[in-house]
Amino acid sequence: MSITCVIGLQWGDEGKGKIVDLLSRDSDYVVRYQGGSNAGHTVVLGKEKFVLHIIPSGILHPGVKCVIANGVVFDPRQFLGELDGLKKKGIRIKKNLYISDRAHLVFPYHKAIDGIRESRLGKKKIGTTGLGIGPCYSDKFARTGIRVIDLFNPALFKERLQVNLSEKNVVISAGGGKPLSTQDIYQQYLHYARQIKPYVTDTRLMLEDALRRKKRILLEGAQGSLLDIDFGTYPFVTSSNADACGISSGAGISARKIDKITGVLKAYATRVGEGPFPTELNDALGENLRRIGGEYGATTGRPRRCGWLDLVAAKYSAQLNDIDSIAITKLDVLSHLKKIKVAVAYKYNGKTIHEFPAAVEALARCRPVYRELPGWQADISGINRYNDLSVAARKYLDFISQHLGVPIGIVSVGAERKRFLIKR
Ligand code: IMP
Repeated sequence: MSITCVIGLQWGDEGKGKIVDLLSRDSDYVVRYQGGSNAGHTVVLGKEKFVLHIIPSGILHPGVKCVIANGVVFDPRQFLGELDGLKKKGIRIKKNLYISDRAHLVFPYHKAIDGIRESRLGKKKIGTTGLGIGPCYSDKFARTGIRVIDLFNPALFKERLQVNLSEKNVVISAGGGKPLSTQDIYQQYLHYARQIKPYVTDTRLMLEDALRRKKRILLEGAQGSLLDIDFGTYPFVTSSNADACGISSGAGISARKIDKITGVLKAYATRVGEGPFPTELNDALGENLRRIGGEYGATTGRPRRCGWLDLVAAKYSAQLNDIDSIAITKLDVLSHLKKIKVAVAYKYNGKTIHEFPAAVEALARCRPVYRELPGWQADISGINRYNDLSVAARKYLDFISQHLGVPIGIVSVGAERKRFLIKR
């Protein structure tokens, strides 16, 4: 296997960071191919917690080359801050980190417009991270975006910036904001350009060369399939292809070359931001999951909405990505429960349905049909062999696997790197 992908099967926050960290041991390259600093991938090494927003989670493995590919919307300020934080924690960064020259840049006006759009939507807001992700991708597709490579042609960069700001400042002023200065941003970004220069390269070419040399590449999906711009709960989605569909365009790797796709599924469901969530628990059970699971946004700190595992949605994601195996995360968070519910169908307009609806209005009206399974009520966080899990815990996992028709490969039972089980 030379190309493996890790994809979230829910609304993000599935625990992809930990799974990528585990799989990085057997990888030469780890690649982020979509999203931007809206992601928050957490890896816990002993007492140290790392939250990576833009730098791939493979960075904690010396010898692994990390790539921020063309499909990522790149915020240099965030990147440099994160880099600094990693260096301060003793992580060695030397010829192991690369940024695509084709990646689009996030500018302060993207963030300002993100905020204005959200406040204009009022109660109908998306609940974005406010990091300018949507406005940056909008510019990319409107062909007015500015890419990393443009920073190295200052005259052209300034011209594009001027044109963009003449339009953006109208929107910013109308939204009650203070117009932004071309000169300030120009100087600031040239300063960033000098700092990021050693990392900038044609990453597509680099990955092609790596493949020719039979190197192992791990693609790190950000957000989750249900937040995908095409197949997610539109418009309550992020602005990129957060599923395996985004790999080809986001990294410049042909879909024909992908060997294995691991779908990451949290043992229960969470969602941060707005949008329908059929299995949401607005009660003490939901609050307990939030508290025990530490369900607060790694990027924004917002409390995540919590609920039961939704296998209608998970099956949709598993099929969409054609996953080969499932990595279950946070199984330990359910250990306190006597009974665990799992949605296996929806009731919609008096009918039982098994398909995930395209319209959010329909999804909002779906009521989950649950199967109830016994809990295991035992601490499983110290277990490191699959067969040592209690019968009830294994039954829960088997039920998921059978329903999705996909084998389980990894089970995570705690935040730390060592807390996982491999199912053989
Ligand atoms: P945006 O990506 O900031 O535009 O936000 C769009 C939606 O995606 C919002 O509901 C966010 O809360 C959600 N979102 C974006 N990134 C993540 C993530 O990494 N994990 C979970 N939700 C996310």
